[in-house]
Amino acid sequence: MTQFSQLSLFSTNSDLYETSHSQIVSERAGTFTDNMKLPVHRWFRYSAGFSAIWVENAIAELKPETILDPFAGSGTVCIAADRLGINSFGIEAHPFVYKLAQGKLAWETDIQEFLDAVAELKSMALKLKLDLPPNTSTLLRKCYLDKILIDLFKIKQSYFELAPLLSDPLQSLVFLTISAILRSSSHVGTAQWQYILPNKQKTRFLEPFEALEKQAQIMGQDLKFFQSIAPSSRAILIREDARSLKSIPDRAVDLVISSPPYANNYDYADATRLEMTFWGEVNTWGDLHEAARKFLIRSSSQHASKERLKLDDLINSSIVEPIRDEMIPVCQALEQVRGTKGGNKAYHTMIAAYFNDLGLVFQSLRRVTVPKGKICFVIGDSAPYGIYVPVEQWIGKLAIASGFKSWEFEQIRQRNIKWKNRKHNVPLQEGRLWIEG
Ligand SMILES: C[S@@+](CC[C@H](N)C(=O)[O-])C[C@H]1O[C@@H](n2cnc3c(N)ncnc32)[C@H](O)[C@@H]1O
Repeated sequence: MTQFSQLSLFSTNSDLYETSHSQIVSERAGTFTDNMKLPVHRWFRYSAGFSAIWVENAIAELKPETILDPFAGSGTVCIAADRLGINSFGIEAHPFVYKLAQGKLAWETDIQEFLDAVAELKSMALKLKLDLPPNTSTLLRKCYLDKILIDLFKIKQSYFELAPLLSDPLQSLVFLTISAILRSSSHVGTAQWQYILPNKQKTRFLEPFEALEKQAQIMGQDLKFFQSIAPSSRAILIREDARSLKSIPDRAVDLVISSPPYANNYDYADATRLEMTFWGEVNTWGDLHEAARKFLIRSSSQHASKERLKLDDLINSSIVEPIRDEMIPVCQALEQVRGTKGGNKAYHTMIAAYFNDLGLVFQSLRRVTVPKGKICFVIGDSAPYGIYVPVEQWIGKLAIASGFKSWEFEQIRQRNIKWKNRKHNVPLQEGRLWIEG
């Protein structure tokens, strides 16, 4: 393999880590945007729910033996645990997001092997002659100039040829490197971790080979730095459902830190549409359900319509018994607004399904946590159609019904107060739900 060229590697970024560390600690809460300043965490911008520094502080204070994140996303909790040498389980059900986390958790990979693999990929891609295939997806055509898309396809084809020759961690790292440049190479509204807006133009975007080199350079630096500060990885990442946690043994965990999907109609499948289309995992928007959404907590109205959910079934399920009396009027009001105001979103079934799912998550969490275990869920409440849903209270009650002893909500910030939401101005909050026992 050829050596990776022109990398001003091996400057340490400990200053970066230390500065961000103290700034973020002093901010108490921290948000996922802080992670974009941190080695490894910054490889792919993801809606993480909290900053890695906050997670590290929580782990350092609570001193768990084994920590679990049942909604691992891009792996913030597992990477934070790795940095401190703590055992961790990360559970993620979204196939593409799971692969991203695999890439980040491959931080022990030999740096030179990684750089050589990217250099080889680039050299193979530069030699290819390609035209855009006639069946190229409309979405990709809208998101990229033809020349850019051809270069990206050359990189993808080279990856598919190279990957079988690479170890699993190297494959994951290179897959992540390529995935991480897809948004920065687009000239339209593809802000990281947002739904795509093909009609919005970006002023700056990168040519794919340049973006690839930059991304590999950052990742190479971070590999070197992280390997110098962290003991070997103790993280186990599993692609499965937080509602069953079937690979996690009973009482294997003494601390859970997680940011589950909020009940706010955010569609994690749609959020990865560009990447999954590029990799050929979906062709159309309609494919997203089978490819990703159906594995996830039902927190978007797309679930409700795709799965033809029935309110009565959801409300009568024994799982939501502890909150049923409160849930019924809220769901009925949502159904009524939908009917009267011509709204088309099935929030009534989305909300009912969401709490059924979270009820299952807490039953599974009870099984896998030790008695006196601690759980911290970073959550936000919700007000679809302006109808308030007291998310933290209902989750707290579901947790108690599953056998936990107590819950307490610690507010981090208020939402929806600064700018009036176009649809309603119900004050909302985000915070940490601490559950114990
Ligand atoms: C707010 S994100 C968590 C982000 C994470 N803290 C991080 O560091 O990136 C919620 C995650 O839950 C995942 N998810 C949704 N339903 C799930 C399920 N049933 N089981 C496991 N993961 C699920 C989503 O794919 C998404 O990645």
